[in-house]
Amino acid sequence: MRKKIIAGNWKMHKSFDEAMALTSEIVNMVGSEYNGSAKVVLIPPFVYVNSVSRMVNATTNIACGAQNCSNHASGAYTGEVSAAMIKSCGANYVIIGHSERRQYFAEHNLWLAQKIDAALANDLVAIYCVGETLEERESNTHFDVLKSQITEGLFHLTAAKMANVVVAYEPVWAIGTGKTATTAQAQEVHAFIRNLIAAKFGAETANNLTIQYGGSVKPENAAELFAAPDIDGALVGGAALQSRSFTDIVKAMP
Ligand code: PGA
Repeated sequence: MRKKIIAGNWKMHKSFDEAMALTSEIVNMVGSEYNGSAKVVLIPPFVYVNSVSRMVNATTNIACGAQNCSNHASGAYTGEVSAAMIKSCGANYVIIGHSERRQYFAEHNLWLAQKIDAALANDLVAIYCVGETLEERESNTHFDVLKSQITEGLFHLTAAKMANVVVAYEPVWAIGTGKTATTAQAQEVHAFIRNLIAAKFGAETANNLTIQYGGSVKPENAAELFAAPDIDGALVGGAALQSRSFTDIVKAMP
């Protein structure tokens, strides 16, 4: 059985005190209300990673991650944060290539491939985000776009390294818009991604790959999405900013 992962990406939200309160609420609520098998990952802004890690690492099923990392190991890169720094603060996951980074910070596949290498070299699980824009979907080029994102981002890895990669399919048109992909649309893309991985790395690696869906996941649509055979969890934005809605999404995963 491949791992199910529900991750909350807090983006650039919350003060320190608010982030601590949200973490402790989620630790309590998930601890007392959730009996399922999913791993829960809280992904705060960098400056809170150390504190959030310390709170969640005492639990068995909650971990901490970061939203980005440098492609460099260390050096004169003012404002950057390395994968080793993230790891040393207690986090075990890092998002690579979120569409907001691709769109606003011009991150491209080949650069993201280097970031994935940096993450894996430091024993972090890389949550690699892929997804098409509305224009790409409407012009029916979304499978080509997804294929380039997957091949250019991941195909330099070995099958062994793929064990520490999670893919998050996040259609850009569904992020923060309230517009979720239908379960059928998401399942179709997840199966497409799994087939690409199988063709390159073999069936076992593909079967073990966790593929999350992201884009306006809410308590109301989570159970239906999670019932699809190739949807192994969620990367949640807006609904992860409140303990009640986030915990309810977690509880939708058996
Ligand atoms: P959303 O964000 O849930 O607010 O759509 C998802 C994401 O960007 O990871």
